[in-house]
Amino acid sequence: MLVGKLVTLRALTDADMRRLTEFRNDAELELIGGGDPPRPRTLEVVREFFAERAKDTEGQNFAIEADGKFIGDCGVFHPDRRGGTAEVGIGIGDRDYWGRGYGRDAMRLLVDYGFRLQNFRRLWLSVQARNERAIRCYRSVGFVEEGRLREHVWGDGRYEDIVLMALFRSDFYATKATSSAGG
Ligand SMILES: CC(C)(COP(=O)(O)OP(=O)(O)OC[C@H]1O[C@@H](n2cnc3c(N)ncnc32)[C@H](O)[C@@H]1OP(=O)(O)O)[C@@H](O)C(=O)NCCC(=O)NCCS
Repeated sequence: MLVGKLVTLRALTDADMRRLTEFRNDAELELIGGGDPPRPRTLEVVREFFAERAKDTEGQNFAIEADGKFIGDCGVFHPDRRGGTAEVGIGIGDRDYWGRGYGRDAMRLLVDYGFRLQNFRRLWLSVQARNERAIRCYRSVGFVEEGRLREHVWGDGRYEDIVLMALFRSDFYATKATSSAGG
C-alpha cells in the first residue's frame, strides 16, 4: 500500500468492480481517457479484464482510494526491462475528485513506485492533446512533452492528436515534485 497526502494506492479488490464498471461505462470518461471507443461493459467483462491484468507479474494495477472511497485506478504497464522503461496510466472516475490535486498525488506515488521499487529508469505515457487537465497534472509531476502523434486517434467525432510525455528517474528525484512520495 502506498500512502500519499490525499490518496492511497492499494490492490484492486472485488468490492471495487461494481464502481469500476460504472466508470468504464461512462462514455465521457472513456473518450477523454483515449482508450478504445466507448462500449457498454458488463461487470463480468470488467472483472475478467482485471483478473487477466493481475496475472501480469511485471505490470501493476492499483486502486486509488481517498476519504475511504474507491475513486479510480492507475498502473504501470508494458515494462521493457532491457530498456528500463514502462508506461503509466491513470483514471479518476469519480468527478468529485477532479482538479483538486488527487491525480497529482496518485501520480507521484505511482511514479515513485515505478522508479524506487520497480527500478525503471524512464516512465512514459500518452494523452489526448485536448485533455488539458491531465497534461497539466502530468507536468506538475515532472513529465515532459516529447512528441505529438498528429490526428492519431478517432475521438469524439474527430481525429485527435496524441501527446507523448516521459519522465526520467534522475529528474523526478532532483525536483521538489517528489515531496509526497517519500522518495
Ligand atoms: C487526468 C486526471 C488523472 C488528473 O487528476 P486531477 O486530480 O483531476 O488533476 P490535478 O488536480 O492533480 O491537476 C490538474 C491540473 O489541471 C488544472 N485543471 C483543473 N481543471 C482543469 C480544466 N477543466 N481544464 C484545464 N486544466 C484544469 C489544475 O489547475 C491543475 O494544474 P496546475 O497544477 O498547473 O494548477 C483526472 O482528472 C482524471 O482521471 N480525469 C478523467 C480521465 C482522464 O482524463 N484520464 C487520463 C487519461 S490520459
